[in-house]
Amino acid sequence: MISVRMRAELQGKHVSGAERIVLKQDLEKTVKELLKRPKQYDTIVLTIEELQELERIEKALPIYSFDFKTVEEAHSFAVKKLMEEGVPEGLAYKALELLRRGPSPKGGNMRGAVLMDISTGERLEPNQEKGIRTIRFDWEDRKHIKSLLMKRGIKKEYRERLLDALALATKNLYCGVIAELCWSDDPDYITGYVAGKSIGYVRIKPMKEFGVALGGRVYFVRKKEASKVIHCLEKRAVLIEEL
Ligand code: COA
Ligand code: AMP
Repeated sequence: MISVRMRAELQGKHVSGAERIVLKQDLEKTVKELLKRPKQYDTIVLTIEELQELERIEKALPIYSFDFKTVEEAHSFAVKKLMEEGVPEGLAYKALELLRRGPSPKGGNMRGAVLMDISTGERLEPNQEKGIRTIRFDWEDRKHIKSLLMKRGIKKEYRERLLDALALATKNLYCGVIAELCWSDDPDYITGYVAGKSIGYVRIKPMKEFGVALGGRVYFVRKKEASKVIHCLEKRAVLIEEL
């Protein structure tokens, strides 16, 4: 099978990224589809790579959704959920604060995720502007999963994003991430999530106010497992079979 990855830039700034794992016979169709994703760009980079090995995950994390009136209430709930996965309360608040301020040392967004030691809060990513990126993942049958999300009442405007973020979070836990916190840097998208093996994929709204262009991801890991986890997130290709 083939890993197809697309990223687009506008004036040197990353504006869109998406990826698929497909059969060779579906490559052309997939490239056409990915090329339609960025609305504005001056550069697109496509990477097409034959995969030597492919692993399968039987089932994605179960999805739950919770709406709150204020960001404060949403954040308290996120902390409670992270604590259910063994994240100490102080570190859950530290992670929220990092994303609120912008997790890069310069104060803005990172290009990937923060890797945080679940015991001490130490940041383990080798480069704090780059972070760690989860790549090489997809659904075995994307169309089928999309139609299941539709049947479950997930609105059209959220479906594609949920599809990608749920697959990413499912791969993360498979690779040994214990819990994840995320909200988007898109100023128009205020639903974030926390994820973990026992809490599942928990969508939470609002994780930030409208108009805020700061966001990011924090992956909680055990320090002694960090290099193995990073290798899995970046290198191992996985397909997720069912919702
Ligand atoms: N933000 C900013 N820059 C990014 C970026 C992001 N999210 N993703 C990629 N880039 C840029 C960086 O400059 C990066 O260089 P760096 O390694 O020094 O940071 C460069 O692109 C190459 O990134 P890489 O991941 O090696 O490229 P790729 O072509 O193999 O894959 C993506 C690109 C975007 C497809 C992949 O990184 C990715 O994020 N896949 C997951 C997509 C997805 O479904 N996301 C769901 C989120 S809800
Ligand atoms: P997004 O969900 O695309 O709005 O991304 C939110 C944040 O998650 C970005 O600001 C990055 O810090 C981080 N991020 C984006 N792509 C990845 C990835 N593939 N793996 C890990 N972190 C990512």
